[in-house]
Amino acid sequence: MIKDGKQAQTLKKMMNGGNSGSSLKVLSITSGKGGVGKTNVVANLAYSLRKKDQRVLVFDADIGLGNVDILLGLAPKFNLQHVLQGQKKIEEIIVEGPGGLNILPATSGVQELTHLDKDARLVLVEELDRISDQYDYLIFDTGAGISSNVTYFCCAAHEILVIVSTEPTSLTDAYALIKVLNQKHGQKHFRLIVNTVKSDKEAKEIYKHLSAVTDRFLDSVSINYLGHIISDPNVPKSVRQQKPFMELYPYSKVSKCVNDLSYTLLQEREKERHTTDSSKTFFWNSVFPVQ
Ligand SMILES: Nc1ncnc2c1ncn2[C@@H]1O[C@H](COP(=O)(O)OP(=O)(O)O)[C@@H](O)[C@H]1O
Ligand SMILES: [Mg+2]
Repeated sequence: MIKDGKQAQTLKKMMNGGNSGSSLKVLSITSGKGGVGKTNVVANLAYSLRKKDQRVLVFDADIGLGNVDILLGLAPKFNLQHVLQGQKKIEEIIVEGPGGLNILPATSGVQELTHLDKDARLVLVEELDRISDQYDYLIFDTGAGISSNVTYFCCAAHEILVIVSTEPTSLTDAYALIKVLNQKHGQKHFRLIVNTVKSDKEAKEIYKHLSAVTDRFLDSVSINYLGHIISDPNVPKSVRQQKPFMELYPYSKVSKCVNDLSYTLLQEREKERHTTDSSKTFFWNSVFPVQ
């Protein structure tokens, strides 16, 4: 339970712009269909950003199987549920992964997030606000599809990175997700990563196809192309070894693709720093509204 004074203090801090000194960038990595490579992209993009000296926290928010911790060979003892129940501080559940990236094991507890009571939300907001300063990137690995667990994290992020593969159903499902995020949750901007392609050209064709459909049917949606990731047998190989391919095969083509993605994100970040837009300050309160 939080005392009234403390509640007011936290609310005031939020009204003043939350963690205003923080330059935390929040990315949500999502897809319409499962199995398109989200968790692999999250783990390896995080690893790549970490290699570029960024402080990265991965928030494992997929309640399904095949979580980030398994992919990275970690076995966290505690998870978000322990924080929500007041048994642990958030720092106590964060585990260190390869290359020094941090993982917040949330799988257990995520389902509860969408219907927390006010006190529990406040605990969480306070805890997250406290650690915000310690990171440059927070990356959500969401589940697939249009369930509230997924849309919740997408709405909380600065950027929604949608992953599609070459399978036509991954495109139709991505369209369905974008439509719901737009029409029910007011999201307008999306970035596309096309996974398991043979070339950038193939990825751009897929992007053109999807954006032609959204341009036609979803007026206020803009999708921009972030990049491609080629299909590479080193990916399943490193999944089996429970290590990021960026670590095991840093010179492979697939690692170069992810490197390019992290480079693009960092360059954009640099530009943003020069044209500071205060409206982009992240409010934990928008994720877990206390009111
Ligand atoms: N670029 C790629 N090349 C080859 N296989 C890939 C690639 N990306 C993902 N995969 C394979 O696809 C499967 C699903 O990936 P995963 O990251 O778990 O997807 P999601 O999190 O979207 O369900 C994994 O077994 C992985 O080995
Ligand atoms: Mg996954």
